Order: sequence, then C-alpha cells, then structure tokens
Amino acid sequence: MADTSQKKPSGPGAGAGEASEKLWGGRFEGRTDAAVERFTASIHFDRALAHFDLRGSAAHARMLAAVGLISAGDERALIDGLAQIAAQIEDGSFPFDPALEDIHMNVESRLREIVGVDVAGRLHTGRSRNDQVATDLALYLRDVSEAAERGILELRGVLIERAAEHLDTVLPGYTHLQRAQPVRLAHHWLAFAEMFGRDASRQRNLRSRLSDCPLGSGALAGSTLALDRHHTAAALGFDAPSANSMDAVASRDVALEFLSTAAICMVQLSRLAEELVLWSTAEFGFVELSDAYSTGSSLMPQKKNPDVPELVRGKSGRAIGNLVTLLCVMKALPLTYNRDMQEDKEPIFDSAVTLRDSLEVMAGAIQTLRVNTERMAAAADDAMLLATDLAEALVLAGVPFREAHEAVGQIVRHCIGKELDLRSLTREDLQAFHASFSASAAEIASLEGALEGRKVTGGTARGTVAEALSKARADNARRLGELSNGEL
Ligand code: ARG
Repeated sequence: MADTSQKKPSGPGAGAGEASEKLWGGRFEGRTDAAVERFTASIHFDRALAHFDLRGSAAHARMLAAVGLISAGDERALIDGLAQIAAQIEDGSFPFDPALEDIHMNVESRLREIVGVDVAGRLHTGRSRNDQVATDLALYLRDVSEAAERGILELRGVLIERAAEHLDTVLPGYTHLQRAQPVRLAHHWLAFAEMFGRDASRQRNLRSRLSDCPLGSGALAGSTLALDRHHTAAALGFDAPSANSMDAVASRDVALEFLSTAAICMVQLSRLAEELVLWSTAEFGFVELSDAYSTGSSLMPQKKNPDVPELVRGKSGRAIGNLVTLLCVMKALPLTYNRDMQEDKEPIFDSAVTLRDSLEVMAGAIQTLRVNTERMAAAADDAMLLATDLAEALVLAGVPFREAHEAVGQIVRHCIGKELDLRSLTREDLQAFHASFSASAAEIASLEGALEGRKVTGGTARGTVAEALSKARADNARRLGELSNGEL
C-alpha cells in the first residue's frame, strides 16, 4: 500500500513545527523534524495491524481492571473507545495520520479524543510499544499462517482431484528436461500434492511457536506493576505468557520462519507454474490454460499467453527477497528492541499477500486447465523410455545392473544409428548384445509394462497411484477440516 499522503521534503528542517502533537512526553522540548517524521513513519503499512492492535489493547485494558490498576469505569470507557475506533477503521473513516508515526500511536491519539486524555493515558500502563508490536505481529502471523495453510490445502485439493481424472493419462516423466520414463499424469500431479502437503505442515508447525504472549514484557525488562500476564495471554488465545521479557521484544525468528515457509512454498508454486508455461507451448502442447487464466497480446492476435503462471514464477522472487531482507535486518542487532525491526513489516505483509494470491490463481488455473491427453500419449510412445526396463530384465536374469546398463546402452546406440525402434529387436538381435536376453524387446518391454511393473511403494503403477490418491484425498479433507474458519 503506497502512501500518497506524504509530502516531498523541501530542505533540512522544513516543516518542523507543523507536526501533530506526539506522545513523547516531558522529555521532549523540540518537535520532530518533518523529514524525520516522514522517514520514521510506518502507519502507511502497519495499519494492516490495526485489528490486532485493538484486540491487544482491549485485552490489556481488561487485565488492568482485573488487577485493580484501572477502575471498572475506565475499563468500560476504553473498551467502548476501542470499539468505536475499530468501527471507524472498518468503515474507512479513521483519520490515519503519518505525523503520529505508527498504528499504536494513531490509535492512542484517537482514543484521547474519544475518551479523554486521562482515561486514554491509563491504557499504556505497564505496556510499551515494543511488547505491543510483538504481540500484534504474533496475532497477525497466527492468522496469516492459518490462511496460508488453508490456501495451500485448497490448491492441493484441486491437484488431487485433477489427478483423479488422469489416472490413465500417460506422459513422459523427465529428468534434465529429457524424456526419462513413462508416468501417469496422476502420479506427476500427486508429486506436487506431496510438496504442498509439506508446505501446509510447515505452516502448522510454525504456529506452534506462536503460542507465547509477549504482552506484559514492557519495553524489555517486564514491569514493576502487578500485571496478570496469564490473563492477557488467555484472552488473546495464547497458551501462556512469554518466558523471557527480553526475548519477547527482541526476537523475530518466527517472522523469519514465516518468510522462509512462504519463500519455499512460492518456489514450489513457481515450479508448477513453469511446467504450465512449458506444457502450454506449441512445442509441448500438453495443456491449454482456460481463457480466464490467460491473456492475449496487444499486438499479435494469435497469442494466448500464460501470464498467470509467469507472474507466479516471477513473484517467487519477491518472497525470496523478503526473507533475505529480514535476515539482513536482524543479523547484527544487539538485544533487545531496535528500530531497525520496524523494517520487518513490509516484507511480512508482502509475502503473506503474494502467497495468498498466488495460491488462489494457481488453484483456478489448474482447476480449469485443459489437458491434451493425445499429445501426452504421443510423447510417451517413445521406445527409448523403455530402455531401463530392458536393463532390469537382465537383472532378473542374474546380470549385475552395471553390466546390464552397459549392454542396453549399446543397444540404444545401435537403434539410434540404424534408426530402429527399440521394440522391433528380436531375441537374437538382443542376444548379440547380451547372451542373457531370453525374449524379444517387445515381449520384455512395453509402455503398459513400464507403468504396471512399477508397483513398488511410491511408484507409478495404476493400483499404487490409485491408493496414493485416496490417501492424499482423505488426508487433505482431514487437514482442511481441522482448520478453524478464520479468514485473512
Ligand atoms: N513502529 C514500531 C515498530 O514497528 C513500534 C515499536 C516502536 N518502539 C520504539 N521503542 N520505538 O517496530
């Protein structure tokens, strides 16, 4: 979200004095320079935390009243004022002011107008923006991580259902982008389902490290006041208060973990996207993106471009960059809070939105993808894809695999040189290369045999893939069912 409200600096000290009243208190005599105000402000992006900030403040106010640090009347006024602010933010009428720096001070300043300076001034009792922002971020990360997990599982569900349609669609599997061995399209897409299954687990797993509530850690050392940190932790849905006040305000490792999981997932999405780009070329012709998930060219009328997967592929770069950005911000910071850490937010927000949107469009693109099964079958009808099976037939006759590999390599070279189909070789032809061949090439190796022979766990035989499919389907439904219904 770009902030268009910021004025261009017009020289050193320009505008100092026109700044709104800040909440720095008696220590300050002079006002902040206008350029510094612009430089330090984060409200144009940290307003994304508003909802979490208000929840944190309400829980804090209730706790202060529960332990007798504020009156029940003040508690009511604060809760009511915070609710009014929430409503204004919701309907877009909240006057975000860059001069008030960040979301915390924007809320507090508005609260002063609504409930008066005295009552509003009691909310910050036993609290610092350092534990406040750490709490906001933990609440935000819990939500976006759950939303990410849901988005990942939904895409995974689409892949599983598309795989189910293509148990009998055969295409070449590739290594080095060279045709290698035939596989079922279901097997290919279930490979991505496995990858996204791990991505979803990574999200769930990182949330187990968001169970401690930073609120009550104060600026860094805790508080002399008798705060009930268990009260706020429970009210905000955490398991417990954080164990160490310094760690609570100084750490961003779970934020890094979120950026890392987002980057990993974006890279997996990028590989799927790359295949859609490649497979929709005239050269492959394996798939066609639906009109809803492709674009035309402004110049060339015949073009149908895979812009959606291309952008997903491109946006994976942002997610990687966001991780590197925060790693660099954090790497030399002494304990505890340092203002550098304000730079955590834009990368986190950007990765959250990039991942969410990429998952959504990829799910749609896969769901509506047209598969050209004939083109895939034609590409898979390549006798060279059966070479491994010839070698494995020799293994069954007792030949060491390396020796079999060597013999079949010579057969392949012979076929290429003579422009022969491997499957046309008779038993005698084969025996010229190795005496242990006991049948013709066509008897030993076929496309059907290559697929059905691979019954090993994790292989591409029909029954094996069908079983993997039903397992993945049940697993995905169970995991989606376990998520609560909160939306990002
Ligand atoms: N906007 C700040 C941030 O995001 C809030 C914490 C500021 N704390 C401070 N002591 N300056 O990091």
